[in-house]
Amino acid sequence: MSERDGVARLTRIAPAGTDRDPMAATRHLGGSRSNSTAPRTRSLDAATSAVRHAIELPSGVAQLTPRSAAVERAARELRQVMGRFATGVTVVTTEHRGQVHGMTANAFLSVSLRPPLVLVSLGRSRMSELLPRAGRYGISVLASDQEHFAAHFAGRSISPIAPEFEHRDGLPLLSGALAHVGCRIVDVHSAGDHVLWIGEVSHMHHRDGDPLLFYGGRFGGLAAAGEGDGG
Ligand SMILES: Cc1cc2nc3c(=O)[nH]c(=O)nc-3n(C[C@H](O)[C@H](O)[C@H](O)COP(=O)(O)O)c2cc1C
Repeated sequence: MSERDGVARLTRIAPAGTDRDPMAATRHLGGSRSNSTAPRTRSLDAATSAVRHAIELPSGVAQLTPRSAAVERAARELRQVMGRFATGVTVVTTEHRGQVHGMTANAFLSVSLRPPLVLVSLGRSRMSELLPRAGRYGISVLASDQEHFAAHFAGRSISPIAPEFEHRDGLPLLSGALAHVGCRIVDVHSAGDHVLWIGEVSHMHHRDGDPLLFYGGRFGGLAAAGEGDGG
């Protein structure tokens, strides 16, 4: 398979749940947990098993009860509030059966320096199905000229693009990114409708350059951030 072939088959690949792998059921994540007081810290096996047995909630506004409408209102407000927290933008990558899958994520943070741990928080996604099988993920911190990748890996591509990856320590990482982190999953925490994937860093690299930023639901750069009215 040429590198191009790999790129053509990578990412935004088959719709979730279309393969015959029994783990495909893991797409029903988080929001389906009924007991919010359940332990938050689990082993990878326990957490993925919980994910596997989760029940899918009905969707659609018509089915919302008054209480869940309030929950939805609070969720929308929290999204807006958290949108005031400016972040960088990353693409999480992993490889399964020779196929690269990428997903845009800004819920990425450093957890510990000794040992070196990072975390990414993922909701219901194809990536969340793949990670228990891959056991590893890569993080590419996007540069200001990589906004099209952020859209692409969030499923919002307008025109087809062909991202290029470099493999480091057996993990695919997006070429041209400002920083790369490769890690092995060492802990998984179920948290509401998301799962926290903690990874021990096995590879890292960075370069100088301008970051892509995300604020108030929009992409920007450091220059744009400095041009505001300060209010
Ligand atoms: C700027 C930006 C940041 C995002 N951050 C996250 C995130 O941290 N966690 C998450 O679960 N989804 C996040 N998303 C949404 C996912 O990228 C999106 O749901 C994606 O389609 C999931 O891909 P997958 O299901 O193919 O793995 C973000 C989207 C954007 C545009």
